[in-house]
Amino acid sequence: MHEQLINPTVEKFKTRFKSEPEHIFLSPGRINIIGEHVDYSDGFVLPAAIDKYICFAVRKLPGTNFCTVIAKDLGEEYTFDITTEIKPVGQMWMNYILGVFSQLQKPENLFCGMEIVFSSTIPMGAGLSSSAALECGFAFILNELFHLQISKKDIAVIGQKSEHSFAGVQCGIMDQFASVFGKENKVIMLDCNSLQHQYFDADLKGYSLLLFDSCVKHSHLTSGYNDRHKEVEHGKKILRKNFPEIEKFRDFTMDMLDRVKEEMGNTSYKRCLYLLKEIQRVEMAAKAISAGNIEYLGTLLTETHAGLSTEFEVSCSELDFLVENALQQEGVLGARIMGGGFGGCSINLIEENKTEEVIRIISEKYLEHFNIRMKVYHVTISDGIKEYTNEYII
Ligand code: GLA
Repeated sequence: MHEQLINPTVEKFKTRFKSEPEHIFLSPGRINIIGEHVDYSDGFVLPAAIDKYICFAVRKLPGTNFCTVIAKDLGEEYTFDITTEIKPVGQMWMNYILGVFSQLQKPENLFCGMEIVFSSTIPMGAGLSSSAALECGFAFILNELFHLQISKKDIAVIGQKSEHSFAGVQCGIMDQFASVFGKENKVIMLDCNSLQHQYFDADLKGYSLLLFDSCVKHSHLTSGYNDRHKEVEHGKKILRKNFPEIEKFRDFTMDMLDRVKEEMGNTSYKRCLYLLKEIQRVEMAAKAISAGNIEYLGTLLTETHAGLSTEFEVSCSELDFLVENALQQEGVLGARIMGGGFGGCSINLIEENKTEEVIRIISEKYLEHFNIRMKVYHVTISDGIKEYTNEYII
């Protein structure tokens, strides 16, 4: 199955560099079952890595200082000198990579030149974290090839920092963590404050998770993502000022929030209200999954959508339409917008033998209403980043 991604990537490597790659790496995208926008507010999240990947074909060039990276799907390439100061550049895709390299460019890390081709089955701007897969994939490669001894946790943190400093998006840690720590058939319950995590069996008892891609693309640099971050930070500042004894955002209560509502202002109040409720929902969702109560999990997903749409205000009419209409279909237990929002996919919890019918109805309705062909992704929960060591056949 991987061959459809790996073979063309290797082919491109061979034609462009006139040699064989020495390593192949696969870095996955992620879904998030529940816990949206809480990863930068000490919340819990329930993501999982999926079987959509960025494939990297790589070769080291000992004794040289140039690293050439080819973004096969974009038809672009970029070369940089590993010995010079690294700064952000015009190609956004390259910034994810340079942001990682700049953090690791230290005298003790003995790098050499490299040739890299990457290609992806993670749709861009669809809320499946293609950028985290790129950042963490590159950090993972450097760690393996140059024996840097970086922990998995630090690979995720380096990826996140790259996004902050070179891509300008003040994201949380969820996407990077899921891409690095993903495990086949397991969802990760991550405490975004301590980074402690545990795995839960992703046994949905005859239901499956389907993604409906609205095909409304977003970039979190230009969406309201950073604005939401600021609005939440403002709210936290007021809460901390009034209740200095509380350390973690998730330990504030609704009552405390209500007491500072006026001082905080309506916008930050709404954002914080959503967050406190969402953090509680994640804990309830983890219990529901463990207890096999999939119906209740569905209810929680739908509540999250309402919160994201009206309190956190990161949905859009296309996603509201997809969710509302999905919920009207038989066999749909819950649905919500997934990821940072402002476009991308909805995640739907649907009875397995009803999925085809639901897809048919929603696709038709969506096309009729918006004149957009919705895409559907059936995803499988998979392992995190790894080197692909099987033989590839070309
Ligand atoms: C984006 C960010 C994550 C997270 C989600 C929303 O995917 O990269 O850190 O904040 O949005 O849950």
